[in-house]
Amino acid sequence: MEWFSFGPLLHRTRSAWLRELLESRSALVLGDGDGRFTRDLLSANPQMHVHAVDLSAAMLQELRLRCTPYANRLVTTQANALNFVPDAAYDLVATHFFLDCLSTTEVEQLVQTLLLSLTDNARWLVSDFQIPQQGAIRPIAALVTRTLYAAFRLLTGLRANRLPDYASLLQRAGMVCIRRRVFLGGILISELWQRL
Ligand SMILES: C[S@@+](CC[C@H](N)C(=O)[O-])C[C@H]1O[C@@H](n2cnc3c(N)ncnc32)[C@H](O)[C@@H]1O
Repeated sequence: MEWFSFGPLLHRTRSAWLRELLESRSALVLGDGDGRFTRDLLSANPQMHVHAVDLSAAMLQELRLRCTPYANRLVTTQANALNFVPDAAYDLVATHFFLDCLSTTEVEQLVQTLLLSLTDNARWLVSDFQIPQQGAIRPIAALVTRTLYAAFRLLTGLRANRLPDYASLLQRAGMVCIRRRVFLGGILISELWQRL
């Protein structure tokens, strides 16, 4: 996605609620790619321990390199997040531009599995693309999203072809959205959800 010149905006979206995460202690970061968010999280919060899970060995290698100064607070696992069974309790889950790689059914499976491993007051940080419900930006967002899915299908064989309705699934799982910020006229969102 950085390739499409969203670069600085993507990172602003990932980092939008970083300062809200200073109370968190144990994070599960799914599909973090090359670790830009994980590095910033570990740097901002010296108490934080991160378990990063990604399908790609190359991405995890970059992530570990980027997070070298914080290696004592980082664990990585190369796995399909859908098959990953946590063996610890997390008070934070972070999914940046990752849920859009999954179908709504797969996100539902992920949420149901992870719920068992989240603390009572756990939070879930989501960055993603969205198609706003209305306004002039809606057709532009729809076009951008379709183009990105087509490009990723070609380049990576991505099977997902539409944005999953993760918000309904998090709500159904007993979480509420407590912070929300949009970028690029509403095409990018950063949301912080809290378990009730
Ligand atoms: C679009 S990239 C997003 C990377 C990063 N989170 C960011 O904000 O730029 C999606 C990442 O999710 C990983 N990924 C895709 N499907 C996955 C799966 N089922 N389980 C674990 N990781 C997956 C990819 O390897 C890639 O690193």
